[in-house]
Amino acid sequence: MHILGIETSCDETAAAVLGGGGRVLSSLVHSQVARHRPYGGVVPEIASRSHVEELPGMLEEARAAARIAWADLDAIAVTRGPGLASSLLVGLVAAKALALRLGKPLVGVNHIEAHLHSIFLGEDAPRPGAICPLVVLMVSGGHTCLVRMDDENTFRLLGQTLDDAAGEALDKGASLLRLGYPGGPAIEETAQGGDPAYVKFPRGMERAGSARVGGLDRDLCFSYSGVKTALRYYVRDHADLFTDGTLKDVAASYQEAVFEALMERTRRALDRERVGCLACVGGVARNRRLRDKLQALAARRGVALRLAPPAYCTDNAAMVAARGLALFDRGQTSPMDMDIDPNLGIGRVVG
Ligand code: KG4
Ligand code: ZN
Repeated sequence: MHILGIETSCDETAAAVLGGGGRVLSSLVHSQVARHRPYGGVVPEIASRSHVEELPGMLEEARAAARIAWADLDAIAVTRGPGLASSLLVGLVAAKALALRLGKPLVGVNHIEAHLHSIFLGEDAPRPGAICPLVVLMVSGGHTCLVRMDDENTFRLLGQTLDDAAGEALDKGASLLRLGYPGGPAIEETAQGGDPAYVKFPRGMERAGSARVGGLDRDLCFSYSGVKTALRYYVRDHADLFTDGTLKDVAASYQEAVFEALMERTRRALDRERVGCLACVGGVARNRRLRDKLQALAARRGVALRLAPPAYCTDNAAMVAARGLALFDRGQTSPMDMDIDPNLGIGRVVG
């Protein structure tokens, strides 16, 4: 069994091949960060053009690195959403062309569900049966949510951000602190040795309440607009912070506020769901401080912890192939007229 994964939903072009049992045979990621950096964020037109330039060569490289022939592939998995429309289209068109040429089935994949599957990748990856049911904290640049996963095909959205994603909040915070793009790694580096209690930034929706928002439990939802605004005012009122040596303390405090908001909801989700395992996926899950906090929480609660391996936290195609494999195994292939869906969400119940 061999499955090719293709990922072009945002600013990473990626191709991967998985073998039987979900073993990663090759996984290539081309980051476009350098091209977008001058603009302080992702420029959709530049992203889609870069995918067009990079993807064909990367597909061939992924195949060669996996040491298989094109004819050895059993299926082609591709991200169909959510993401940037013009970027998603590049991956989808390539996947369809390959599927048609090779006479192999196409499997459309939800990018958020692909991130969830990153917990099953890597050397010491657990089998789904060993850790499900579990609560997954998904933290990326585009999405922040808590999901209950009962098996590899059954997800239930527990809560999500009502405005910015955690990664987006870090990216915007880094921009206010003049730390460059992408902001998550820049803030993590600057915050080293800083005092996370130096400024008490708001944690967002701090008052507990029983109301529901969009059918979700408000206590499990996130909001980052308040902390962002608080930082904006702090920078306005403390112009010296760039020269007086407190930048690392402010960065550490801002990062702490973003992470404590995540931790509080994660604690509540564990209280309610009573599962034996906690997991964390998405680009922000690369952060050492967040990983340490999750480690401490899991130890205190006596639950197992599964953190996606760092290489599979940020966007990659191995997770797309892994999700595609689970769908393929259930016979859930996609029609050739499948379209992209830039606003695809995670279903309340899938599976
Ligand atoms: O999962 P991802 O690659 O793309 C999306 O699907 O959005 O996540 C990218 C996000 C960016 O916001 C980036 O700042 C953040 O992940 N990120 C980090 C770190 N590395 C990447 N945030 C905090 N600490 C890091 N080390
Ligand atoms: Zn992603």
